[in-house]
Amino acid sequence: MILEAIITNNVVKIYSGGVKALDGVSLTTEEGSSHALLGPNGAGKTTLIRIITTQIKPTSGSIKVLGFDVISQGSRVRELIGYVPQEMSLWTELSGFENMLIYSKLYGIPSAQRKDIIEELLEFMELRDTANRLVKTYSGGMIRRLEIAIALMRKPRVLILDEPTIGLDPRARSLVWSKLLSFKKEHDMTIFFATHYMDEAERYADKVTLLNRGKVIIEDSPVRLKEIVGGNSITIKLHNSRDRDYIVESLKNSEFKITILDEKSLSFSVNNISRDLPRIIEAIYKLGVIVEGVELGEKTLDDVFIALTGMRVEETPGRLREVLSTRRMIRRGG
Ligand SMILES: Nc1ncnc2c1ncn2[C@@H]1O[C@H](COP(=O)(O)OP(=O)(O)O)[C@@H](O)[C@H]1O
Ligand SMILES: [Mg+2]
Repeated sequence: MILEAIITNNVVKIYSGGVKALDGVSLTTEEGSSHALLGPNGAGKTTLIRIITTQIKPTSGSIKVLGFDVISQGSRVRELIGYVPQEMSLWTELSGFENMLIYSKLYGIPSAQRKDIIEELLEFMELRDTANRLVKTYSGGMIRRLEIAIALMRKPRVLILDEPTIGLDPRARSLVWSKLLSFKKEHDMTIFFATHYMDEAERYADKVTLLNRGKVIIEDSPVRLKEIVGGNSITIKLHNSRDRDYIVESLKNSEFKITILDEKSLSFSVNNISRDLPRIIEAIYKLGVIVEGVELGEKTLDDVFIALTGMRVEETPGRLREVLSTRRMIRRGG
């Protein structure tokens, strides 16, 4: 039987200052799946995660985690989830091992088991050799892996992460994800994560919920979402700039969706590249236009977001500094 790990039903959050951060969010996370909440800064991702993790209350709506109501059964929910917040949650003047020890006590892990659990997770997260170094000497990737190790100590059924790889370089990001996915597989854990990196959502989620300005735009698997904009793009580079508008005009009633890229190039959205590429080339050939080059490209979730909102999920470089400077100790999950 498939049980829903997370169900939110028409969740609204209006902050005391009047900001409507969530405007009727309904979503479902199947147990054992990896589910991404994808959206630009300010979309409401952190707000929803704070509500699901019982830190703040919604203005209206209901939320269940593994069948328990987050408002009336908050302590049951906290027992079942692990949470890695967007901001840093470690003591930087202590070692990795000491951080884990403190959290193991906070989480009530029996003292006889603490050392084994900590050693095992440090090993798994490839932090064993650096476990006795102060956290302030750690790289961004090591910090994230330590935070995840801490969240995994209680073997949560649902792991909730807010921007798990924000500011990390591609290698550090892929190490974090390989660890997360292998733990997920071994323990049949559900992962729910917020991100503004569309490639991360595309690569690591079974399902993606696109959130914008507090509203769900669409929710589906990455493959199905990309079908909305067509699976591939074919870029045609023209020899002569005046041919561009001629092609657009001549093919405007055809089956192809055409986007103007610049003076001399056009992009065709297609679902089936092996069928559509020859058709496009033939249609252009019949118009007597000289083509300088053809490029094939994969569509991304960014294309989906642009198609549905007219906006780009913007990148925000320099956020890691912000995250690290927060150095705020927050008590997680408890
Ligand atoms: N504590 C708060 N008080 C008032 N407004 C807030 C608070 N936290 C977030 N907001 C506002 O709510 C909106 C959603 O923020 P947030 O949930 O942090 O989005 P995201 O995580 O997607 O970047 C933003 O407009 C933000 O400024
Ligand atoms: Mg956020």
